[in-house]
Amino acid sequence: MTLEAFDTVDLIHAKRDGAVLTTAQIDWLVDAYTRGFVGDEQMAAMAMAIFLNGMSREEIRDLTLAMIASGETMNLSSLSKPTTDKHSTGGVGDKITLPLAPLVASFGVAVPQLSGRGLGHTGGTLDKLEAIPGWRADLSNAELHAQLEAVGAVICAAGAGLAPADKKLYALRDITGTVESIPLIASSIMSKKIAEGTSALVLDVKFGSGAFMSDIADSRELAQTMVRLGTDAGVATTALVTNMNVPLGLAIGNANEVRESVEVLAGGGPADVIELTLALAREMLASAGQPDADVEDALASGRAMDVWRAMITAQDGDPDAVLPTPKEAEVVTADRDGVLVEQQALAFGVAAWRLGAGRARKEDPVQHAAGIDLHVKPGDTVMKGQPLFTMSTDEPARFARALEALEGAYRVGDAGDEVLDGGPLIQDRVTG
Ligand code: URA
Repeated sequence: MTLEAFDTVDLIHAKRDGAVLTTAQIDWLVDAYTRGFVGDEQMAAMAMAIFLNGMSREEIRDLTLAMIASGETMNLSSLSKPTTDKHSTGGVGDKITLPLAPLVASFGVAVPQLSGRGLGHTGGTLDKLEAIPGWRADLSNAELHAQLEAVGAVICAAGAGLAPADKKLYALRDITGTVESIPLIASSIMSKKIAEGTSALVLDVKFGSGAFMSDIADSRELAQTMVRLGTDAGVATTALVTNMNVPLGLAIGNANEVRESVEVLAGGGPADVIELTLALAREMLASAGQPDADVEDALASGRAMDVWRAMITAQDGDPDAVLPTPKEAEVVTADRDGVLVEQQALAFGVAAWRLGAGRARKEDPVQHAAGIDLHVKPGDTVMKGQPLFTMSTDEPARFARALEALEGAYRVGDAGDEVLDGGPLIQDRVTG
């Protein structure tokens, strides 16, 4: 038996009492946890100590580097084009990756979008794309490289080999109340993104009721922390801080979010989805050396749509296939004339999840046709009896639980009442 470098309980005591862990201590802790020497119960205590006491800038850097070192790193330098990627901290109706990746790739840039499945009220990009008949999330490294070279855009499952320490720690945080911690979120996201090998990265850091951080100051701090980690690791990183108090777009679910993304690629779609897609595309293209790229034209001309079709086809999906439709639908209407003044993102996300669009346990399937279609957004005038939103599911027993989640989450007020939408969509930009 080899002698371990540190005693786990000593490190937990130290962090619990507010000490700063050394590089050697963090390296050992992450390695020993990955190998199973440090137990889940010990790492849960450590995660809670970090949650409560925070981490210094150096500790966050060390934790990120240790999680990268726990697995393989990808090398995309053999590609003939520059690489740029985007990560969103997640929100309700956030389907931006779907139109964004082909849009950016239509400028000759490689976009390796290694994505995940959803857990809880925020949907997963792979769940959405799996609504397309035949589409395959799992690609080998060789397939990923070949598609980046030939098509430019890839959205696929992150392989198990990237930052395995994070995979283990994130699953543990999910069940121990330790997700919403800036050092833990920043190191988790950035370890995967740096390990993926992209040369540039744009972060969409959300705040509001449907985001990890409800407060914009916390989101700004998270954005600054991640931009610093990326920059220090040699990845050109910028971030937009964006509003997630209201669902993004009109579709919340899986198949309906794909439909809405295709509308954007066809030159239409809801104004907020278009605004964020264009803003992130400009950031990504600037980071890849094309600050003057005409992103509007790429949507209007159908160039981005061509890349979407090629991207879906390359992963065995049929871009022309009819998407799944739900067995049951229920429409909720306005009970009075007035103005929609509230539409809380979190509640709509939870309701869509309860309708079957999301999963409660990671092994559960999702219903691809389940979700919510919004017919109005905050600030819109409505008349009594006008549809506000439609809920869809394959199991009608789910409607009651979804409606419970929505109680008090939307409201028709009078003209002139304050609209509680949290303000503009894009509120800040953070650079290294
Ligand atoms: N996404 C991640 O990958 N990690 C977190 O901690 C939060 C969101």
